[in-house]
Amino acid sequence: MIKRCLFPAAGYGTRFLPATKAMPKEMLPVMAKPLIQYGVEEAVEAGMNIMAIITGRGKRAIEDHFDVSFELEHQIYGTPKEYLLQEIRALINQCTFTYTRQIEMKGLGDAIYKGRVLIGDEPFAVLLADDLCTNEDGDGILSQMVRVFNKYRCSIVAVQEVPMDQVHKYGVVAGKEIDEGLYMIDNMVEKPKADEAPSNLAIIGRYILTPDIFELIEQTEPGKGGEIQITDALMAQAKKGMVIAYKFKGKRFDCGSIDGFVEATNYFYEQSKKQNTKKTEKKSQ
Ligand code: UTP
Repeated sequence: MIKRCLFPAAGYGTRFLPATKAMPKEMLPVMAKPLIQYGVEEAVEAGMNIMAIITGRGKRAIEDHFDVSFELEHQIYGTPKEYLLQEIRALINQCTFTYTRQIEMKGLGDAIYKGRVLIGDEPFAVLLADDLCTNEDGDGILSQMVRVFNKYRCSIVAVQEVPMDQVHKYGVVAGKEIDEGLYMIDNMVEKPKADEAPSNLAIIGRYILTPDIFELIEQTEPGKGGEIQITDALMAQAKKGMVIAYKFKGKRFDCGSIDGFVEATNYFYEQSKKQNTKKTEKKSQ
């Protein structure tokens, strides 16, 4: 059973300045819910209940969000607005939240490595909250990945086909298709130019990692951009054993970019309008 989910959330979120000057990017709301809460809900749906969050300077709002605000509870108790706190209260009751800081932003690989003290020696999930994923037709992306993990017992990365002119923004993988939408990775390049990309299968912010990844990160030299890249450590893991890329079912919004964030907001707004219409129709029946 995978119980722990790691949330690297130490980045500066420079694409959202000035909003992210004093507020973490992960707390930006789509509708009335912060990005990181969507992520925690996805992890809970996949059976996880220990959330390990890698924070940095200026990220205290995340800790406060997953804590009880007694003053607010007192104010809102018994009022018609109390239901607005139901979802977050349920998460706080179901989960344990643990935190550690990444002191210097040395890359995603380093942020994951900092999580070692919170994870221990067991397989775990990694969720980048600025990739907002949803699947209106069934299970969430992490749940789908847990199923793949239970079958293959190796590290799994979620991938999506992207246009070739976008591959330079992602870690890109290639490999042999071993089952529908499942690839045994034999090549992986971080942010390649279009003519150097091994495919158009881009890694998005969902991973299941086996704990030997920590030692491999330790041995990983700084790569693209002078950062410790998780893709380099995963490539070493793929060479030693097996890493699988999983083409997930559902939608993903890149909420680390303004375009993706606006798309997500429009999508979730339309979804909530549909739900409200359904509710009104039911009531009037
Ligand atoms: P991004 O590449 O989106 O960087 O990181 P960023 O700093 O968050 O945003 P921009 O590009 O400046 O706008 C991808 C994910 O990895 C985490 C980030 O918090 C984000 O969730 N990350 C990245 C870390 O936790 N530490 C790092 O050193 C780098």
